[in-house]
Amino acid sequence: MDIGALYAQHLSTLQQRVETALARSGHDHLLIAAGVPKYHFLDDRDYPFAINPHFLQWVPLPQHSHGWIVLTPGRRPVLVYHQPADYWHVAPSAPDGFWVEHFDIHVIREPKQASAFLPKQGRIAIIGEADAALDGYTPDNPQKLLDYLHYHRAFKTGYELHCLREASRIAARGHLAAAAAFREGASEYAINRAYLGATGQNDVNVPYGNIVALNEHAAVLHYQYQDIEAPAQSRSFLIDAGARCNGYSSDITRTWGNGDARFQALIDGVEAAQLALVEQVRDGRDYRDIHVDAHLRLADVLQQLGLVRMTPESQLESGISAVFFPHGIGHLLGLQVHDVAGFAASDEGGMIARPDGHPFLRLTRTLAPGMVVTIEPGLYFIDLLLRELRAGPHAGAVDWDAVEYLSQFGGVRIEDDVACTADAPENLTRDAFAAV
Ligand code: GLY
Ligand code: MN
Ligand code: MN
Repeated sequence: MDIGALYAQHLSTLQQRVETALARSGHDHLLIAAGVPKYHFLDDRDYPFAINPHFLQWVPLPQHSHGWIVLTPGRRPVLVYHQPADYWHVAPSAPDGFWVEHFDIHVIREPKQASAFLPKQGRIAIIGEADAALDGYTPDNPQKLLDYLHYHRAFKTGYELHCLREASRIAARGHLAAAAAFREGASEYAINRAYLGATGQNDVNVPYGNIVALNEHAAVLHYQYQDIEAPAQSRSFLIDAGARCNGYSSDITRTWGNGDARFQALIDGVEAAQLALVEQVRDGRDYRDIHVDAHLRLADVLQQLGLVRMTPESQLESGISAVFFPHGIGHLLGLQVHDVAGFAASDEGGMIARPDGHPFLRLTRTLAPGMVVTIEPGLYFIDLLLRELRAGPHAGAVDWDAVEYLSQFGGVRIEDDVACTADAPENLTRDAFAAV
């Protein structure tokens, strides 16, 4: 099916969801404000624009500010499209693409002209940030309405899956270019340029700040710098970087060694665990159980490699596995990289708690077809956490010489984007690497 047909189905699903959500929250109209640019304090420079994801789900215009969508059950959606007369910047072009035919579009030159096209009567719900308020239209973000829309946003439409697959393919090209640059001994900065060039992105329109980490830097989970100088020796390379397609993101991590057999064994161990965990992305599986199983599998790798002399079960119980794997196994993925409603108990609200002792897990729901999640196990050598372990009662279970040796490589993370189906999981990321 072509993207136009997929998008038409997508819109009819969104329309149904909005109708139900409005009925539940007791409103006649839903307004969605795209959002407005934000400025630096006492300055006329704006921050990179981040659009209201609700707006983006309806129209694939990540850079569109000051726009409005008006949704009224039984009527065609209305789009108020801001196209300023601006000679300082490139003004948005006239609305164009597979999506335009589905909207009644009103082009405005000034943000304040939007109110002429917004409903004047009835009970109006407005989703948007506070700054988007215009005349009497102040975003109120009704909780009942958001609970419903956010809960269901976890179930991707065919159009959304199409975009997510493409986002993985774009990123896969970048990952291959980055790996080649690493093998040539490039700096983090140069590797990042290679990634951006191969994906056609700049530093601002990537879905999240690229993590490009050589050697010990791989131990910093969200390492945020890129050294201009290449290190004397590039022993290891961890890259966590994605791409966007029509506003939908990929989120992919790969780790590479440079010939060291012990580090390669660690990569191989994490990868085997990762593939086994991806297999568990199935209808009815509680994601919390995948997270706990990740601890057991990664602890098994630590035991097999002689790093920790303790069974996986006792490593989990004593908190040792969390020293080496101190984050969640993954999260929902979509318009936001850490997509909303990871803890939602139902479409009427409520929250599914994290398992005790796992404060960083971002998804606790039971998987069902249409959900897209990441599976991203890792093992790291993080000074701060290792020092606590060394000072504690379980220090004797650890081979500290091996830990010190492997610390020069920082750590390993392998992350794929995976769709739950009625049957076997669809690994968007591995499919993308195979295709490019
Ligand atoms: N890139 C952030 C994450 O993997 O969740
Ligand atoms: Mn992730
Ligand atoms: Mn990531």
